[in-house]
Amino acid sequence: GQAEIPQELAGALRSAHAVAALTGSGVSAESGVPTFRDAQTGLWERFDPQELATPEAFSRDPKLVWEWYSWRRGLVARAEPNPAHRTLAELERRVPRFTLITQNVDGLHRRAGSENVIELHGNILRTVCSAERIPREPGEGSPPRCPHCGAPLRPDVVWFGEALPPGALEEASEAARGCELFLCVGTSGLVYPAAGLPREASEAGALLVEINPERTPLTPLADFVLCGRAGEVLPALFTAAFPGG
Ligand code: APR
Repeated sequence: GQAEIPQELAGALRSAHAVAALTGSGVSAESGVPTFRDAQTGLWERFDPQELATPEAFSRDPKLVWEWYSWRRGLVARAEPNPAHRTLAELERRVPRFTLITQNVDGLHRRAGSENVIELHGNILRTVCSAERIPREPGEGSPPRCPHCGAPLRPDVVWFGEALPPGALEEASEAARGCELFLCVGTSGLVYPAAGLPREASEAGALLVEINPERTPLTPLADFVLCGRAGEVLPALFTAAFPGG
């Protein structure tokens, strides 16, 4: 059924000039893309991140890492944006200044029509040269080699222990400090520096909203906790704020 949306929140969203959203893998769960930490289905419940999502893992076994990301890329290629992605794209059209900050690497926000997207952790559909970190088309082989320097190619994602893309965190932090409303959607709030953005927004005076079927470390910080799935709660929030559709 229609999730319960507090009128104060609907009013705040309707009158907001600047809104920011931080999304995690939970917004893609209803598209069939696995999350990382959900019981049983989470990727880190089934695979060891130290073996697959660190620069050391890649230099130790580039073929294993490349093939695991190829498998994940296949899951993403078959996925479609869900109502959560589409509602966030619609919000960008209705709110004067809307910034979407995502930890997801699946590209589904852009496929849903979001344009002002900060990909804090990169994008699995892009491939870069592991030596020069410049984008390269993946050729043959596993992993394919950089046509320019011969180094193995790697997915353009941020692995544990790596720096975020230059400027991404600064841009996200600026959006967090400058917004009236900050939506935390589908993230466990465990991985920094992304997980620091909600507190930064709240301390700068934003109303904090968490949308998640579970409690997280962000829950105590939130002014509004909408307990439910993003694909149901976000459309309900949008309709409550913009009843004319
Ligand atoms: N709607 C909303 N939230 C959901 C849904 C859903 N349908 N399904 C699950 N969730 C919530 C879970 O309750 C959990 O709190 O989404 C969250 C997913 O948390 P994680 O699996 O930890 O994913 P995320 O927060 O994106 O992880 C952050 O960790 O592994 C690194 O770089 C990776 O970007 C990732 C980062």
